[in-house]
This record gives sequence, C-alpha cells and structure tokens, in this order.
Amino acid sequence: MCGIVGYIGGNEAAPILIKGLKKLEYRGYDSAGIAVYGDSINVVKTKGRLADLDEKVQSLGGVKGTMGIGHTRWATHGAPSDVNSHPHTSMNGRITVVHNGIIENYIQLKAELEKNGYVFASETDTEVVAQLFDYYYNGDMVDTLIKVIERIRGSYALAVMCTEKTDEIVAVRKDSPMLIGLGEGENYIASDIPAVLEYTKNYYLLNDNEIVVLKKDSVKILDMNKNEIKKDVYNVTWDISAAEKGGYDYFMLKEIMEQPKAIKDTIHPRIADGTIKLDDVKYTDEDIKNINRIHIIACGSAYHAGIVGKYVIEDFARIPVEVDLASEFRYRNPILNKNDVCIIISQSGETADTLAALREAKRQGIRILSIVNVVGSSIARESDDVLYTWAGPEIAVATTKGYSTQVALMYLIGLKFGQVRGYISDERVSELIGELDKLPEYIEKLIDLEKDIKVMAKEHHNSNDVFIIGRGIDYAASLEGSLKLKEISYIHSEAYAAGELKHGTISLIEDGTLVVAVATQDNLYEKLVSNVKEVKARGAYVIAIAKEGNTEIGEVADKVIYIPHVDDKFTASLNAIPMQLFAYYVAIERGCDVDKPRNLAKSVTVE
Ligand code: G6P
Repeated sequence: MCGIVGYIGGNEAAPILIKGLKKLEYRGYDSAGIAVYGDSINVVKTKGRLADLDEKVQSLGGVKGTMGIGHTRWATHGAPSDVNSHPHTSMNGRITVVHNGIIENYIQLKAELEKNGYVFASETDTEVVAQLFDYYYNGDMVDTLIKVIERIRGSYALAVMCTEKTDEIVAVRKDSPMLIGLGEGENYIASDIPAVLEYTKNYYLLNDNEIVVLKKDSVKILDMNKNEIKKDVYNVTWDISAAEKGGYDYFMLKEIMEQPKAIKDTIHPRIADGTIKLDDVKYTDEDIKNINRIHIIACGSAYHAGIVGKYVIEDFARIPVEVDLASEFRYRNPILNKNDVCIIISQSGETADTLAALREAKRQGIRILSIVNVVGSSIARESDDVLYTWAGPEIAVATTKGYSTQVALMYLIGLKFGQVRGYISDERVSELIGELDKLPEYIEKLIDLEKDIKVMAKEHHNSNDVFIIGRGIDYAASLEGSLKLKEISYIHSEAYAAGELKHGTISLIEDGTLVVAVATQDNLYEKLVSNVKEVKARGAYVIAIAKEGNTEIGEVADKVIYIPHVDDKFTASLNAIPMQLFAYYVAIERGCDVDKPRNLAKSVTVE
C-alpha cells in the first residue's frame, strides 16, 4: 500500500520519480507527489492519479534538480486531498519525508510536538515523522533518523531529505517493503522493482530497521548502532517488458493470458521422471509423515487458493488442514502443536497481516513453508522454506496468474505429501502428473472462449447481484470468482456453498437474478444440477460451468461453459478462467478502471 521512490544522481530527478511512481501506481492511486532538491526542496503534490501529478509538474514547467523522493498514496490517515498527499514537510520546510505504512503512536507524538510549537498542516500520521525529524535534527541525518525510529511505533518505509544536505537521502524500513536500486553514478529507492527496472537490475533488499544513506556514488547500509552492514546484490531475472502492458488495454487481461505460461513455469521445473521435487524444501520423508496438522494462512485471493489447498491436501495426503485469514489468525491466540506446519501464501510476500501471522507462528516454534511470487520479499526471507510461484510480475490489483500459480503449488504439495505418506500410489501420482501437464493447454482452450464470454458480459453487466454457487472445490473456486467480479466491476456478488442455499440465500433469488453454478465435481454434479433447478424455479438466470460431456446441466441452465475433463482436484485451475474473463468484461462494459479498482491497492502493507 502506497509506493515510494527516491533518486539521486546526475540526471533530472522529476521525470525518473514520476515514471517510477507510474510503475507503482498499483500500490495506491488516490494522490501522488514528488519533492525535488534544486536550489531548495520543491514539493509538487496533488489529489488524483499520477497523470494529474504529471500534468501539474508540466504546468509548472518541470521541477529542476537531480535528487528527489516521490510517493503514490492509498489513504489511511486523512482523506485523499492535496494537503494530505505526500511528501510531507516539517513546519520550517527543512525536512521532507515520504512514507509507506502507519505510525501508530502519531497522536501522542503530535501532541508532544504541538507543545513544542510545531503546527501541523495535514491529518496524516506521516507529517509527524517530518516534524519529529526536524525536532531532533542535529546536523547528522543518520543520528536523527535513529532517534526518530526510537520514538515511532508501527510500520514504515521512509525516505527523508533535508535542505541542509544537498547530497544524501536517508531511508529505513520496518514491516513495509523497500529496496535500493544500484546504478552507476546514481542510486534509487523503491517499494518494488518495476519502479527502477528501466535503470538497473541490481538491488539490495533491506531488513527491518536497516538505515540507508543514499548518495550519488555510494550506498551505505547501517544498523541502529551505526555499524556498516555488507549486503548481497540481488539481480532481477525478468525484463522490463514483463511489467508493461504489451499491447493489451489492461494488465489484468495480459495477466489472464499469461496463465498457461505461468502455470507451466511453476509446475514443470518441479516434475522429473513422474515424481515431484519441491525445490530445496528441507522436509525429509520422515518430517512429512510426522506432520500433524497444516495451517494455511493468507489474505484475499491467496486465502481462496488456500481453501483449494485444504480440499486437495486433505484428500491426497490425509492431513487435517485449517485455512485462516491472516488478519484473524494473528489475533486469535491460535492453537499450534509441535508437529504442525504453517503454509503461508502471498503473491507479494509483503502483506502486513500475513507477515504478522507468519511471525506469530514462528514465535510459537512452528515450521513455515511459504508460497510467494516476489523473490526476496519479507515473507520469503522469514520463512524456513519457500516455494516460488513463477508467475512473473503481477501488476493488476485483481490477481489472476498469481492465484492460479498458488493453486498449482497446492496440487504439488498435496501430491508430494500424499505419495510420501502412502495415500496415493506411484502409478496414480504419475497419472495425475500427466493431467497437470495438460493444464496449460486446457487453459489456452478456455481463453479461446473469450468472445463468447464477452457476449455474456454484455448481457449481464447491469446485474445488481450475482450469486456464485458450487460444492467442494467448486465452492472454493466460487469464492474467488465472486471476489474477482465484485472487486473490479462493483457488482454485489456472493459465493455460496450450494448446499447452504436453502438456509437463507435462496430468499434473495428473484426473477432474472444471475446465478453462476460451478458444477465441475463428478461426485457432486447431480446435486448441483438439483440446486440449479431450485434457483431456476425461483426465476434465476443460470450460467453453469461444467465438464465437457456433462450435458444434462444444459437442459436446466440457461447457458453452459464447458471445461476440459480433468481430475476433480484440478478443476479450480480451469473454472477460474471463464470467471476471470467474465469479471473482466463486465467491468469493461461498466466503464470501470479494471487495473485500479476504487479503494483498493495490490499490496496491502498496512493492517
Ligand atoms: C490484495 C490484492 C489481492 C491479493 C491480496 C493478498 O487484496 O488485491 O489480489 O490476493 O491482497 O495479497 P498477497 O500479496 O499476500 O497475495
């Protein structure tokens, strides 16, 4: 949530900052601003999108200077407005700050500073940091930053400039992401790699409370005692084109189309000679046999991938699996036992609640296996073992390929654990691997239905409510289908376990209500057909998703989307595709900004 950038070098900073912020807009987009050091520190900021900021900067004839910081905001404290936008400056103009995170004790600090004569202009928590920095400033940026860190509580990625320091930016992070891009005669700060990828592929990752002194020709990382820390240089393995739209109208559509490749890249390297190898995950067969219970913890779509995982792992490996929302897990005093394992799922690897849940599980001595897309992210670094989803960068706020690759790893874990524990035979594993191999090709086939789904979206884009129903894994898939639709099209949508319909929800069905019935579980198919009949009898319009060959449902539903025949456990990978495309085209029909839905941000780095 919120994106920050920083630049120091020989080139004009403003265009670099704005370009970088554009690449971070997925992190928040209700206001934006930059501060550039020329003769003094010039701040330009505005409510609205990056395009509005760009326009404002142009109208001022640009902002001159070769060092600066910038921010794109997802409002937490204070409404989106010009004055609440970052950067924030101390009352006397000496200190300028950008911040991603939340300063939890800002009210006390503000009161204290006000007693000392400081006057505040905004409603934000961040302004406190600028003023506090000014209050403690003693001519040394690092000393001052350490004093500030000692006083603030919460999460932060901070970059600070001072009018008395023409050649340095200082920065620090805690529980909010930040990396340092390394150039030649220039260096960068960014919340995420795409912001700096045009200029450098080399970067440092920071741990909590490591202090950065960024200069044109050097980057120094210090601990809180001012000891220098040596860092490994990471290298980005993907190209800038992967983080660009490549001819598509929206990132979301591009990312839907990339799913066959993403799934192939995630599954293939882990399969050899009919067996599954989970990278260098350090579980012996004995460890796997001894697992008592698995706790899958995640937020949003990653949580839905976890629910698919529950069905798959319990069935294949006969290990009890609990799936928790990270925001609930972290505060509910969870019961964890010695031989339990936590599987943490997160595309970004930075979601604040998920990271906090990981730390709680670790504190209780539980082994952590994480499933993460962003290499070197906080969750990846703090886990005992990591399985990466090789989806490549995902930019659209609504995840597609991130989710699909998480689901794919659920299959591999389920199969591997099931085989080692003796619940699935080697022959069955190799048959199922054969099916997994075909998923990318089947997804291509489903993507070919794009035109038909576009027509359905045209017909239904004015719906007020949509209900998505399914049983078993189809219920898990319905949860994700429903989230996709509501988050980008703003149509009220709910997912229901089809068996629960009669316990309340069916009263909401009236003439013309759209019901999407996911009916791709062989053993539950007939039950779903009955549920379709029940909603049809109450006037619903039903679009069903069924396996090829299961044509009876066509006699009761109004439309049927057929998916290729795969094992029931793997259907979530296929029925996700028509639901993603439907959500996408409904949102387009309704004129929504698909990649940047209102009020949302991709990487939720605050609670
Ligand atoms: C946000 C995103 C979702 C994502 C969720 C969890 O809400 O919009 O797409 O599923 O965060 O994010 P994570 O990075 O932890 O998977």
